[in-house]
Amino acid sequence: MRMRIILTWKKAAGLILLGAAGALFVGWSGLVSIAASSGHFAVTRWFLGWTMENAVETQSMLLLKPKNINLEDSALVRRSAGHFATGCAPCHGAPGVPQSPVVLQMTPSPPRLEDKVAEWSDEELFWIVKHGIKYSGMPAWPTQEREDEVWAQVAFLRALPDMTRAQYAELALGGRPGGTDLEAGGKTTVAVDDIVENAIADCARCHDRDGLGRGQGDAKNAFPIIAGQPAPYLYATLRAFALGRRESGFMEPPASRHPPEVLEAVARHYSEQPAPGLRPVDAADASATPALSDASISHVDDAPVTEQPLASGSVELSLVPLAPRQDKAGLLEGEGDHPYPMVPAAAAAGPPTTRMKLLELGRRIATEGIGPRKIPACQRCHGPAEHRKSPYYPYLAGQPEWYLSGQLRLWQKGRRGGTAYAHLMDEIARNMTDQQIEAVSAWYSELPVAERYHPLTTR
Ligand code: HEC
Ligand code: HEC
Ligand code: HEC
Repeated sequence: MRMRIILTWKKAAGLILLGAAGALFVGWSGLVSIAASSGHFAVTRWFLGWTMENAVETQSMLLLKPKNINLEDSALVRRSAGHFATGCAPCHGAPGVPQSPVVLQMTPSPPRLEDKVAEWSDEELFWIVKHGIKYSGMPAWPTQEREDEVWAQVAFLRALPDMTRAQYAELALGGRPGGTDLEAGGKTTVAVDDIVENAIADCARCHDRDGLGRGQGDAKNAFPIIAGQPAPYLYATLRAFALGRRESGFMEPPASRHPPEVLEAVARHYSEQPAPGLRPVDAADASATPALSDASISHVDDAPVTEQPLASGSVELSLVPLAPRQDKAGLLEGEGDHPYPMVPAAAAAGPPTTRMKLLELGRRIATEGIGPRKIPACQRCHGPAEHRKSPYYPYLAGQPEWYLSGQLRLWQKGRRGGTAYAHLMDEIARNMTDQQIEAVSAWYSELPVAERYHPLTTR
């Protein structure tokens, strides 16, 4: 005999309500095992793992690694290694770094990643590192606004399985596994107390003690240069990171680890390190060069042409080096009454086809600006120290290209933040095209080199 149950809407709703009431009762009873000490039943562990894998797979489906990201780039590995040491290794361990018995008592406990990364695609790793995993202790990236940083961390994860202890110590710990040998860099500056020394050793894992950034060869330029930036800019920037007013998953943790008075001393230390390749300020020179005319830097306009091999043949040579007096030829109609020479929007002459042309466009933007696009000459604020009006204006010369263009793009998206003066850059960046950003970043990144080849003759 068969029993017939007819499911009606009323009965279905009743069942759902009953289920909900049951769940509430179980939660209310206080009998659910939430003790990490009891672990999971095998079936629960399987179910949670399976759910997590499916979620990561599905939710990373629409992600695509940007074309300009090369996960084998050693600069990306270098940039994220120091963060791995403080942000990930305490849970996951690292080459030569065992997992602490404390984290092994987490449920689930963090796996060693050397064995695990091969199981995930690049996009899946990106998703995990960016978003973290709820109810497991696996944290999200400190900011959701810096996907470039998350990709750098993925590059590190890809390099991890083949990394030796020595390589890891060199990359992530400043080559000093214990992190206590503070004098190893050789250059001790002023007599600062242990706390400040410790903080500098922390920064030095990435920026080195001289502020030029660690890394050689291909990994050179992994970090922005902080040597010789004005101390007020450095300090205000560090506080902006600590307060979340400037977003970076790499910088927010170190800036928050140290109290303001320590950051102040650290800022002073880095401001006293010599900036690379820059001509020492000569008072006589400074007075001979008016602040806004930028005669002091116009000598670089022919530097790359004579010193660098051209990518596409010598024909370009005659086209590229425009001396400042030739700029008038590039004036657009009706713009002659502007107080400073203007450069036509890049499109008027077609996009620069060679590195040389790109650098020339960059030089013009930096020294003259682009009037019609409301882009002022960058050098008005970022020029040589003796011309800068405010200790909150950083120099840009010699900064890595990726860093300069990356910062400008952050401003374009309204995501850069920074000190109380950061808004000065909002409109400037928004008025720039991609190509202008590329050009001015290229020019500044090569500026100190040019200066070394063409030292200013004293007038
Ligand atoms: C507080 C401890 C903790 C920290 C810090 C942490 N994780 Fe995790 N992570 C975990 C736990 C726990 C899991 C396991 C999650 C699970 O199985 O559901 C995990 C899982 C992962 C996984 C997936 C591994 C797998 O196959 O199961 C990756 C990849 C990962 N973490 C990367 C990182 C990176 C990169 C960092 C640093 C930016 C980091 N984690 C920081 C705790 C941590
Ligand atoms: C884990 C590596 C790492 C550590 C440790 C680190 N930094 Fe940085 N720092 C970076 C990276 C990467 C950037 C670039 C951030 C960006 O892209 O916005 C940066 C940016 C900065 C900037 C901004 C530069 C500019 O021109 O605006 C300052 C200032 C700075 N760091 C100072 C410090 C100081 C001081 C410490 C120590 C308290 C420190 N950093 C520790 C990696 C690190
Ligand atoms: C009116 C002054 C002013 C002018 C003109 C100006 N800037 Fe800036 N710029 C600033 C200030 C102030 C900051 C520091 C913002 C902060 O982090 O708080 C800055 C920061 C930057 C940074 C980030 C530097 C770093 O180390 O993080 C870049 C890149 C930059 N400017 C590019 C440019 C370019 C390119 C131009 C010309 C097209 C330009 N700026 C013109 C005031 C100016």
